[in-house]
Amino acid sequence: MTKTTPPSTIALDGPAASGKSTLGQSLANALGYLFFDTGIMYRAVTWIALSRDMDLRDEDMITQLAQGAQIDIRPPSQTDGRSCDIVIGDKDVTWDIRSSEVDANVSVVSAYAGVRKALSEQQRRIGLRGKVVMVGRDIGTVVLPEADLKIYLDASTEERAKRRHDELIARGEQADYADILEKVIERDRLDSSRAVAPLRPADDAVIIDSDKMDAGQVVARVLELCK
Ligand code: DC
Repeated sequence: MTKTTPPSTIALDGPAASGKSTLGQSLANALGYLFFDTGIMYRAVTWIALSRDMDLRDEDMITQLAQGAQIDIRPPSQTDGRSCDIVIGDKDVTWDIRSSEVDANVSVVSAYAGVRKALSEQQRRIGLRGKVVMVGRDIGTVVLPEADLKIYLDASTEERAKRRHDELIARGEQADYADILEKVIERDRLDSSRAVAPLRPADDAVIIDSDKMDAGQVVARVLELCK
């Protein structure tokens, strides 16, 4: 019997709230790989800009910020649902970068070419070490086009809004479904229509529609593809 090795670099892309993080984390655990959610970096830059009251329309200033940002990702220090600690300076911003204010502004920041260049270079350097599940919007198309396995995880807008809603409620935050749906639609529009690295599946990506699948079924399907 021939022994197969699983793909070493796995690119996992898809729209907001399609379940990429849950899938990516489970895959990484199952394979003993690093889980790297690249959205964290765009969120962290957005959070720093907002916390310094910077003008988000100032592309040059935001690009400089992204080039110098020190974003630290550490093992989780608390068992509150986090998969890691995100630290900026000496502040734990793990949940701050998931706030609705960051949600509403991150697409503007992530559309800037200079910001994307600075962050995707760092992501590529980490990805090329291998044994990694890298999650984002442009991993299979731009960051790691040579990835061994590319997955594009999709789900309907309504299902994704429902998942985001349930997530917020579970964290004890206020959430209004109609409002979340509207924001998911707007973020999809911005992520897919931007000039640089728009959200789209790579030509050689396996597209999985998770609408009628639960998280366990999606993981099982991808582990099957890894064989
Ligand atoms: O996956 P997320 O919701 O945490 O991503 C936050 C934002 O960052 C989202 O608007 C898209 C953007 N993003 C991106 O443009 N490229 C990536 N590789 C990851 C995220």
